Amino acid sequence: MHASAKLLFAFTVLFSVSKVAAECTRFSTNGSTAATYQFHRFYDFRNLHESLSRIATSTSLNDAIPNSASSKIISAAPWGSGWNARKWFRPAPRKDTVDMQYTPSSISISEVSEPSQEDSTCLSLHTTRLPNGTQLASELQFTEYNVTYASIRMSARIHGVSGAIAGFFTYRNDTAESDIELPTGGAANSVHFSNQPTTNPSTDAPIQGSTFNVSLSADQPTSTWNNYRLDWVKGRSAWYVNGVQSADTEVNVPDAESMIILNLWSNGGNFSGRMDTGGEAWFDIQWVELLFNATAGSEVQYDETACSVESSLGSPVPNASPAPCWWLSASRFWWMIGMASVASLTVCV
Ligand SMILES: *[C@@H]1O[C@H](CO)[C@@H](O)[C@H](O)[C@H]1NC(C)=O
Ligand SMILES: *[C@@H]1O[C@H](CO)[C@@H](O)[C@H](O)[C@H]1NC(C)=O
Ligand SMILES: *[C@@H]1O[C@H](CO)[C@@H](O)[C@H](O)[C@H]1NC(C)=O
Ligand SMILES: *[C@@H]1O[C@H](CO)[C@@H](O)[C@H](O)[C@H]1NC(C)=O
Ligand SMILES: *[C@@H]1O[C@H](CO)[C@@H](O)[C@H](O)[C@H]1NC(C)=O
Ligand SMILES: *[C@@H]1O[C@H](CO)[C@@H](O)[C@H](O)[C@H]1NC(C)=O
Ligand SMILES: *[C@@H]1O[C@H](CO)[C@@H](O)[C@H](O)[C@H]1NC(C)=O
Repeated sequence: MHASAKLLFAFTVLFSVSKVAAECTRFSTNGSTAATYQFHRFYDFRNLHESLSRIATSTSLNDAIPNSASSKIISAAPWGSGWNARKWFRPAPRKDTVDMQYTPSSISISEVSEPSQEDSTCLSLHTTRLPNGTQLASELQFTEYNVTYASIRMSARIHGVSGAIAGFFTYRNDTAESDIELPTGGAANSVHFSNQPTTNPSTDAPIQGSTFNVSLSADQPTSTWNNYRLDWVKGRSAWYVNGVQSADTEVNVPDAESMIILNLWSNGGNFSGRMDTGGEAWFDIQWVELLFNATAGSEVQYDETACSVESSLGSPVPNASPAPCWWLSASRFWWMIGMASVASLTVCV
């Protein structure tokens, strides 16, 4: 499934943060948690093969491949300006769990050996249990902004031995956290959607409505590419798989600024399971799309154009307006010059 060659090259050049249409100043979503957001980011890892070859011939591998600690690749822009690969030792919290070492070198751009040439690469997070008992793990934190509400989406798959959890989630602290979690163990099609905490900290009793064990359809197990989406709006969380809502709740919905995190971990505990020495697992990601609000971004926009993110991946398009051509204001008139006929056909219908 996975090409053996791991390509740990320049996030710098490799990756494209797509530019949104210049006109879009708000971004809208659909579903039961439909909302608008101030910010949109799209990170596409699917077509980096050509760039990989280019870099392979022009970059010294010794410089490019991080052997342990900090990867200058990952710390380089534009990835580095928005994401941080953690280097973090997390000692076992209890006797019956294991130490974890989060390390940037566990994160790479990998080749995907699939018939489709177009989707030949992905972002790959890796985890493995070392002979000394420590679990090497991976974590990327979105650091451009902490977010207040958000709709976070990815196309992802997991593979490898059981005992690890792939996470895509919002995090402030252990009681303000909203999760998509894909376990490498258990049923091949089971995923967890949760707002933390899921158990009462003093009694350990489960908290009703805080967590959902969802089964994907049998022909789309978590080892195949699926689209996962978590919407966090005021007072409500909803989770979608492949465009269809599969869980929602008003329990434990976070209400404070949070980070967005991608990770792959195993602490040897009951939830993740425990790997044997030498065990390995991967969390592969084709693209990540983030819509969010942030406290830092609340300046008033006078000239607003809401764009929908739902119809074309990564490229928001202006919403069809309820009142025809409402946006043909004086301030936009220049834009229409020379495009009037095309624009009026496509937008003002
Ligand atoms: C949102 O719109 C997209 C594109 O039309 C569709 O595929 C998806 O199912 C919709 N999602 C929901 C929850 O309505
Ligand atoms: C995000 O902020 C905009 C502008 O302040 C607001 O209209 C919108 O409702 C907010 N979105 C959410 C999900 O709260
Ligand atoms: C195990 O090895 C890793 C990687 O070399 C190291 O970071 C960690 O401290 C070691 N753990 C123990 C308990 O020696
Ligand atoms: C986000 O929050 C974390 C934890 O409170 C903080 O360390 C970090 O500086 C914040 N980042 C931004 C961009 O505000
Ligand atoms: C988590 O953050 C929220 C919001 O700031 C706060 O109310 C809560 O007390 C925090 N919980 C913990 C365990 O620190
Ligand atoms: C969901 O699955 C996990 C792990 O298998 C289990 O610990 C938990 O009790 C389950 N939760 C629910 C609500 O069924
Ligand atoms: C795992 O489950 C067992 C049996 O319920 C329990 O005794 C143990 O404390 C749990 N371990 C962790 C790390 O939660």
